[in-house]
Amino acid sequence: MPVHSLTPILLCLLPMWRILTPVSSHPQHSRCQLIQRTALCNNGRLTSVPTGLPDNIEELQLNYNNIQTLQDNSLSYLSLNSLSLACNYLEKLEPNIFQDSKLLESLNLANNDLYKGYSETSHALKTLPRLRALDLSENKLDDEMAATLLQNLTSLEYLNLSGNILQRLDETSFRDLHQLKELDLQRNLMFEIDGAFDSNPKLQRLNLAFNSLPCLMDFHMTQLVVLNASHNFIEWFISRQDLDDTFQLETLDLSDNKLLFFPFLPNQSHLRNLYLSHNSVSFYEHLAGNATFINSTTTVEFYNMKTYKSNVTAQLWDEGLHGDISSLEILDLRENQVEYFPQGFIQKMPALSRLQMCGNCLETLNLTSEQFSGSLYELDVSNNRLNQIVADEGTLTALSNLTYLNLSLNDFKRLPSGLFPSLPSLRSVDLSYNNIDICLTEEAVTGTDAMSACVDWKNIASLKQLHLKGCNIKIIPSLAFAGLFLTHLELSDNPGLILQESVQSLSRTLQHLGLGKTHIQDYDFTHFQSLKSLNISRNSLAHIPPSLVNLDLKVLDLRDNRLSTIPSGQANALASKLHTVFLTGNPFNCCQTEWFRTFETTKTINVVGQSDIECQDLFQTTHRVEHFRSFVCMEEGGESIFWYILLFVPICLFFVGISIIVLLTYRPKTLQKSIKKKCLKPTSY
Ligand SMILES: *[C@@H]1O[C@H](CO)[C@@H](O)[C@H](O)[C@H]1NC(C)=O
Ligand SMILES: *[C@@H]1O[C@H](CO)[C@@H](O)[C@H](O)[C@H]1NC(C)=O
Ligand SMILES: *[C@@H]1O[C@H](CO)[C@@H](O)[C@H](O)[C@H]1NC(C)=O
Ligand SMILES: *[C@@H]1O[C@H](CO)[C@@H](O)[C@H](O)[C@H]1NC(C)=O
Ligand SMILES: *[C@@H]1O[C@H](CO)[C@@H](O)[C@H](O)[C@H]1NC(C)=O
Ligand SMILES: *[C@@H]1O[C@H](CO)[C@@H](O)[C@H](O)[C@H]1NC(C)=O
Ligand SMILES: *[C@@H]1O[C@H](CO)[C@@H](O)[C@H](O)[C@H]1NC(C)=O
Ligand SMILES: *[C@@H]1O[C@H](CO)[C@@H](O)[C@H](O)[C@H]1NC(C)=O
Ligand SMILES: *[C@@H]1O[C@H](CO)[C@@H](O)[C@H](O)[C@H]1NC(C)=O
Ligand SMILES: *[C@@H]1O[C@H](CO)[C@@H](O)[C@H](O)[C@H]1NC(C)=O
Ligand SMILES: *[C@@H]1O[C@H](CO)[C@@H](O)[C@H](O)[C@H]1NC(C)=O
Repeated sequence: MPVHSLTPILLCLLPMWRILTPVSSHPQHSRCQLIQRTALCNNGRLTSVPTGLPDNIEELQLNYNNIQTLQDNSLSYLSLNSLSLACNYLEKLEPNIFQDSKLLESLNLANNDLYKGYSETSHALKTLPRLRALDLSENKLDDEMAATLLQNLTSLEYLNLSGNILQRLDETSFRDLHQLKELDLQRNLMFEIDGAFDSNPKLQRLNLAFNSLPCLMDFHMTQLVVLNASHNFIEWFISRQDLDDTFQLETLDLSDNKLLFFPFLPNQSHLRNLYLSHNSVSFYEHLAGNATFINSTTTVEFYNMKTYKSNVTAQLWDEGLHGDISSLEILDLRENQVEYFPQGFIQKMPALSRLQMCGNCLETLNLTSEQFSGSLYELDVSNNRLNQIVADEGTLTALSNLTYLNLSLNDFKRLPSGLFPSLPSLRSVDLSYNNIDICLTEEAVTGTDAMSACVDWKNIASLKQLHLKGCNIKIIPSLAFAGLFLTHLELSDNPGLILQESVQSLSRTLQHLGLGKTHIQDYDFTHFQSLKSLNISRNSLAHIPPSLVNLDLKVLDLRDNRLSTIPSGQANALASKLHTVFLTGNPFNCCQTEWFRTFETTKTINVVGQSDIECQDLFQTTHRVEHFRSFVCMEEGGESIFWYILLFVPICLFFVGISIIVLLTYRPKTLQKSIKKKCLKPTSY
């Protein structure tokens, strides 16, 4: 039997192996790099902890190796305080592995297979009296495994359990972690949390993102500073209202959930950042006392089924439930259903600095009645249904810090005529995709009370960026931008735009100019010496404006024009300066693609969509310029070799025809000859 006969040989070989391995292979620690008291042994295909490292190392990194088990007695570094074994195939840590490493404070076991040997591993962890940071992320741990691993880890301050398969947390889950300050539970499958953090009075940062939580109720973790519950299915966020303590909460992230109501925030808190984007938040106060809804529910009650200890009753239309928002600085409500702000809502936020309302259903904005505070720095009401803004002059000058104003994608037809000149810090305005014109000189009305269908931009010294895409602008008066120091002007998507001399007054300051889809032709860019980025795509240009060559452009968009080639002088000049160029969508001539090689061989330029640039050959067939072999073209785009081939082919065909006829005519003879030859061949015997 082969197995039996082999075994003795193997047994004999084994001791030999034992002796040979240390000699023949490099000693394992040679795969490590030593930097002071840190040993870096990452990416080394190691299967065990290397021996022979200096005794006094304090940090040992063994990430991306093939270690499966940490065996007892394999870790003999007494001063070790940080050990990292992320991304191995680690199944277990044997119980006495840390016998000699009692100083260990930080242990990273991320991305391993600890679900296989969690109970042995838990014994090993218990022997670390100073363990402060533990990373157990991505180990396929379920609720019970995690609870077992975390038993008795009373010194732990930082714990990462992200990317496991936890489903439910209760009071036993983190019972012993009395020192815990930061807990990362994102990307699990949690749908229920019940009293899980009552034993962690020091917890300050909690991440619950990317789970399946349906609600967060009876929130009473007064010590928590950052709570991230984004990307769940949360419909209700209700904090306990009967607490006298001030919540320490500063950042609350509830974005990407299913909230219908503004969260019921703590009655007293220091909340500064509130992220609610991508929910269905709306305000319903207009429904209170509405006869139509008199019989519908105005309260919701939530019962704690287990203890009946903390029933929550919420008066749905009660504006007091918004809680304490007096410290709020950032309110992100992008992509919700807000139609209006409840009365006094904005006034409750005297420190508000950024309000992001993009993608809601706002219909009017009365800056006078809302009374935004002077600290407002960014106001983004883009993509709503706004058709007017109301503001008196006093209100506008009070907005002394307003710097970014985004009004794009609304339905504005008229604006207060002094709106922009009255805002002293205004740096960036986006009015794109509204039907707003630029005032001709005689139209400009002074005074803010008057509404005007055109906007006057003159002499707003602070303004640097102006976006007027798709505003249906036809003529820009010559003096429209006088007294401005714009660095960024976007006028794309205004087909048929007549620029007159207007933009020339910005030639010294302008760094970006967007003129895509404006049908401009032959514009003279000579004086734009600061210009770094130019968009002249979709303009049916047959050639590149010659004045571009002398500019110090870095970005140039030439897509979707009618360019057939780029003369080599231009190509060389552009290639040496540009960092990014867009060229797709032009009907280039396949026989004049010298410019392509120039761009291709210049290492400092990024030709966006290089492999998608197409050209047409003599027969109007489209090719990828990258793959087109120009052997069919003559140098300098003159006569093509193709014509010679075309001439040559009939002659070749003629000769081939003749040959075939000759062959057919003489075939019988040659055949007979060869047969004869074969038969006449003398035999060898
Ligand atoms: C671990 O904690 C349990 C109770 O949580 C206790 O009974 C046990 O003695 C502790 N074990 C050690 C080794 O501290
Ligand atoms: C927790 O681990 C995950 C995956 O290993 C990582 O992406 C995340 O940043 C960690 N969390 C913290 C707070 O370091
Ligand atoms: C919340 O967690 C998600 C996922 O890790 C992250 O993208 C987001 O930035 C976090 N929010 C805050 C406010 O840090
Ligand atoms: C909330 O706090 C305010 C003052 O800070 C107090 O007047 C009000 O009664 C409190 N509400 C509740 C429900 O405790
Ligand atoms: C009551 O609600 C209806 C439907 O939303 C609305 O049309 C009506 O104006 C409301 N009435 C009052 C008094 O707010
Ligand atoms: C409210 O309910 C009462 C009793 O069920 C009914 O008589 C009344 O017509 C209802 N009102 C409305 C506005 O539906
Ligand atoms: C909570 O509601 C339940 C069901 O209505 C009730 O039996 C219980 O007494 C209530 N508990 C408190 C504290 O109000
Ligand atoms: C805007 O608000 C002010 C102050 O509350 C008010 O006097 C004015 O009528 C409002 N304007 C409009 C058009 O609602
Ligand atoms: C405007 O911003 C500056 C700097 O951020 C700040 O010091 C100042 O208090 C703000 N002004 C108002 C009226 O809030
Ligand atoms: C203004 O908002 C629109 C739509 O939300 C966005 O696409 C655009 O980039 C914003 N403008 C600026 C200057 O940030
Ligand atoms: C240039 O303008 C066109 C037309 O508005 C636009 O589609 C394109 O994205 C712009 N190019 C760049 C690089 O932003």
